[in-house]
Amino acid sequence: MDQAENLRNVIKAKNIRTVEKTKVITITSGKGGVGKSNMAVNLAVNFTNMGKKVIILDADFGLANVEVMFGTLPKHNLSDVIFNGMSIRDIITTGPMGIGFISGGSGVVGLNNLNREQIAFLVHNLSLLNDLCDILIIDTGAGVSDQVLEFVLASPEVILVSTPEPSSLTDSYSLMKAMYKSPKYLENGTNVHLVANKVMNEAEGNAVFAKMSSVVQKFLGGDLDYLGYVSYDVQLEKAVRNQRVVSLEYPSSKAAKCFESIAAKILKKDKDTHFKWGVSQIFSALLRDRA
Ligand SMILES: Nc1ncnc2c1ncn2[C@@H]1O[C@H](COP(=O)(O)OP(=O)(O)O)[C@@H](O)[C@H]1O
Ligand SMILES: [Mg+2]
Repeated sequence: MDQAENLRNVIKAKNIRTVEKTKVITITSGKGGVGKSNMAVNLAVNFTNMGKKVIILDADFGLANVEVMFGTLPKHNLSDVIFNGMSIRDIITTGPMGIGFISGGSGVVGLNNLNREQIAFLVHNLSLLNDLCDILIIDTGAGVSDQVLEFVLASPEVILVSTPEPSSLTDSYSLMKAMYKSPKYLENGTNVHLVANKVMNEAEGNAVFAKMSSVVQKFLGGDLDYLGYVSYDVQLEKAVRNQRVVSLEYPSSKAAKCFESIAAKILKKDKDTHFKWGVSQIFSALLRDRA
């Protein structure tokens, strides 16, 4: 049996056997610098505190914020899986509290050039995450690039981070519009949950959500869910400057309390409404039309 045939069999077998244990949350925003990476690492800390095993996949290639805040430099990334035959297990770096961290590297950027076997091998490896973590948090890049859009469209549960700044709101709206207008958009395929970041108080968070959800409803006919707000907090800035995660460095800060309540809300919503989140499903969708 040649390598390619072997991999095809692996994928076939996987389709029958894979149990989607891992829950995936994709974090995105229309604009950079609004707090995606902080959302990723602080949710990871809180989910870990709640007894979950968490891995973060950093698919933001411009700025590798997660590794900066974790103070760890990953030696390998997803392209080592694709091109050097490494297993996904071998490219996971361990950060604070045992939180796993995978760097996308150029692996995901170069996806357009992969052949079927490489894609099959990658999807198979990503499906192994079902045995390695309870929750996978994907930190996408900013903007409305094709790559970000593909992650969003493939993900059942997406957190959209917006700030009260008009430019953040318009960029968030552009991302929502691109999602709804995409030929790949499936009705009820993606649930979008908004988090208002860098707000002064609860009322300002509510106002961010009210603005976004009203335009999404009026012009796109879509629904947004509200997960809550994160206060603007100098302690968070200070933690980031010191390459620390605010929830660990200043657990009683305003921002840390907000992340804690958002994490609790996510797990409660999952219990009540059963989020549709699965790792193999996402990466199969993401890679389906590639080769
Ligand atoms: N709630 C907040 N309060 C104060 N500053 C924040 C807050 N969230 C983010 N920031 C600041 O914004 C910067 C960018 O955040 P980051 O999470 O890296 O954004 P992104 O990943 O969206 O580019 C951080 O370095 C931090 O200084
Ligand atoms: Mg970032």
